Amino acid sequence: MYEEGLDQLCDFLISAKSTMALTGAGISAESEIPTFRGVQGLWEKYDIMEYAHIDAFMSNPAKVWKMLMELDETITTARPNPAHDALAELEKMGLLHMVVTQNVDNLHQEAGSTQVVEFHGNSQKFRCIGCRSEFERSAVSLENIPPRCNCGGLIKPDVIFFGEAIPWAANLKAFEMAKQVDLIIVVGTSAVVAPASEIPVMAKQSGAKVVEINLEATVLTGRVSDVLIQGSAGEILPVVVERVKKRRQ
Ligand code: OAD
Repeated sequence: MYEEGLDQLCDFLISAKSTMALTGAGISAESEIPTFRGVQGLWEKYDIMEYAHIDAFMSNPAKVWKMLMELDETITTARPNPAHDALAELEKMGLLHMVVTQNVDNLHQEAGSTQVVEFHGNSQKFRCIGCRSEFERSAVSLENIPPRCNCGGLIKPDVIFFGEAIPWAANLKAFEMAKQVDLIIVVGTSAVVAPASEIPVMAKQSGAKVVEINLEATVLTGRVSDVLIQGSAGEILPVVVERVKKRRQ
């Protein structure tokens, strides 16, 4: 069904000098981490303004921490799936130069990708919002929530809540790369949250091919993306790796 798109992506990967991927929750769905939107999505269960905005955290940190701890259990037991493995393999083959991920689950790194830009932070690191000290997850006791720093400040996972700025260096790296790549592969994101959603737009405006891998069409489809390969990332990406390997033999 998606044969034509697969061939196009393989052609682009082989001819491109510089490539990047933008990933979202859909790439980790096959690692049993729920996505945010859609029927079983996290935001169906938890209202964004009540749980995912920095103002909500500030006004009721214990309530937000309860949700974060539930999510944390899912994330810490998750393992990379064949889609993460395939992107790591493409990097090893010299065909993928950066993964910008909106995910905070560390699964790209666990799969072996080394050039990962964490656009929304990493849930396994914690930070004091008072003195900005950073902590390893294991160094913070979660017996009493919300945890507090020695300075008295609230500790939160080092992830971006709505209403917070994207980490400066990650933002710069991602957009600089978007301006210079020949190809961006957009995997498992609804592309509705800015500024991450503007990365493929920037790449397109700078002349890159944009290929989406998603179960369904998104706001980018037919407008920004040149190709949508419709299906699961865990099925499609390993096939891409195999085909590119064969073609290069
Ligand atoms: P979403 O939940 O908005 O979108 C997930 C996308 O993945 C959808 O387009 C699905 O169709 C697709 N999808 C699901 N399973 C898939 C699979 N197996 N293979 C391929 N595609 C699949 O998640 P994001 O786009 O990542 O930010 O959400 C962006 C941001 O919104 C998140 O980083 C988070 C959230 O609020 C913050 O909390 C700041």
